Amino acid sequence: MSKAVIVIMGITGDLSKRKLIPSMYRLLKNKKIKDFVIVGIGRRALSVGDIISGSKKFIPQPDAAVLSTLEKKISYLQGDLDDKRTYGELKKRLSGYAKEGLTNVLFYLATLPGHFDPIAKNLQSSGLNKSSKGWVRVVFEKPFGSNLTDAVELNASIKKVFSEDQIYRIDHYLGKELVQNIAVLRFSNTVLEPLWNKNHIDHVQIILNEDIGVEDRGGFYDKYGAVKDVVQNHMLQLLALVAMEAPSSFNALQIRNEKFKVLQSTRSVDAHDTILGQYSGYSKENDVKVDSNTETFAAMKLFVDNMRWQHVPFYLKTGKKMKEKKSLIYIQFEEAPGVLFKGGAKLEPNHLVITVQPSEGFYMTLNTKLPGSMELTQVKMDFCHDCTYGANTPEAYETLLESVLAGDQSVFVRSDEVEASWRIVEGIIDKELKVRSYAAGKDPKAATDFIERDGRKWFV
Ligand code: BG6
Repeated sequence: MSKAVIVIMGITGDLSKRKLIPSMYRLLKNKKIKDFVIVGIGRRALSVGDIISGSKKFIPQPDAAVLSTLEKKISYLQGDLDDKRTYGELKKRLSGYAKEGLTNVLFYLATLPGHFDPIAKNLQSSGLNKSSKGWVRVVFEKPFGSNLTDAVELNASIKKVFSEDQIYRIDHYLGKELVQNIAVLRFSNTVLEPLWNKNHIDHVQIILNEDIGVEDRGGFYDKYGAVKDVVQNHMLQLLALVAMEAPSSFNALQIRNEKFKVLQSTRSVDAHDTILGQYSGYSKENDVKVDSNTETFAAMKLFVDNMRWQHVPFYLKTGKKMKEKKSLIYIQFEEAPGVLFKGGAKLEPNHLVITVQPSEGFYMTLNTKLPGSMELTQVKMDFCHDCTYGANTPEAYETLLESVLAGDQSVFVRSDEVEASWRIVEGIIDKELKVRSYAAGKDPKAATDFIERDGRKWFV
């Protein structure tokens, strides 16, 4: 792992408090990273002690010695990210660290998306976007853009400042353990790969249900909504990993090439194949417009128009204030012919469920007989990740930070993938589509009817 200065732009924000600092703590504790310092930039007057205590409640059973080491590695720079003087001061600090041998610099833009372009330009005009002594990398949080045109412009603009190999576009789902396992499950098991196509798979469901509402992010969320917040990124990345061809090797170029090909083959989703909803009470949330038409729920049907997947529906469903938090991928295989059993009984199709969270693992259902009779029943072949490896899976952000520091772009999203994903949802964003109200804990009825019209059911 290379030595580096990690500059967190927006260290006083929620992301930094909840995810970045706790991830740095775990990396330090697990001795995955040692030679680094953090420069945190924020507008408020703060001490490093404030930063540490703000994150403490997001670190289960913190070890005081590790926290104190982390604290000593952080310095705070109070400044406005739109102000050139902030970059002048940053430059001075970075050259001080360079003299101590810390010549690599990682800029982490933990800010609202509207700041990405101005920050990139400021880094360029202060000469911080490249270095002859070490590497310079930049991490952009999602959402990257807010529609196709915007994303194309943003990509073009930041590529004038950084080369693509310096750019790491985060989608934290790609750092989740079970998401990283999808390709391994698919391509290292001969029992699965031959069946993984339109001849044997009836349909796929990708579900990202959350029990929480918008909490204190109403102002941000109300401008985006579920499609921009999670479908365009997390859910389409899951779709790409489920549907892609085997890459010729597991490197960033090949994996991203294959994901891009899937996204490129995915038909733009039609408003007729989409159901949007809003939980009741949403418009009373803080910073949400009283007459808001923003969706907090989205269900849709997509098709990947290629040889492997033609005519296989991919159903996507996500919602806030659902019954329980659950992210999963459900693969339903074709039904076996029932002719042998009870005069042609309808058999339950096999299915494979990859549970991303909160429980991690996967299982496959098989038909078997009940003891003492020829009645059929389904049993599970179950892999429970925590039961096998203990509940100590690295957090997504931890894995991603480690990957950026190692220069591994395979778990970050390339510009063409981002643009292809925006193209897929173009028909259902920024339009006046009907948004149905739903009670907390329940899907809108229209979403249930929508899949049932196809003779199928939501898995959860
Ligand atoms: C974020 C969205 O990207 O993902 C949030 O902005 C959402 O609205 C979150 O809650 C879900 O992530 P996770 O890891 O909790 O499933």
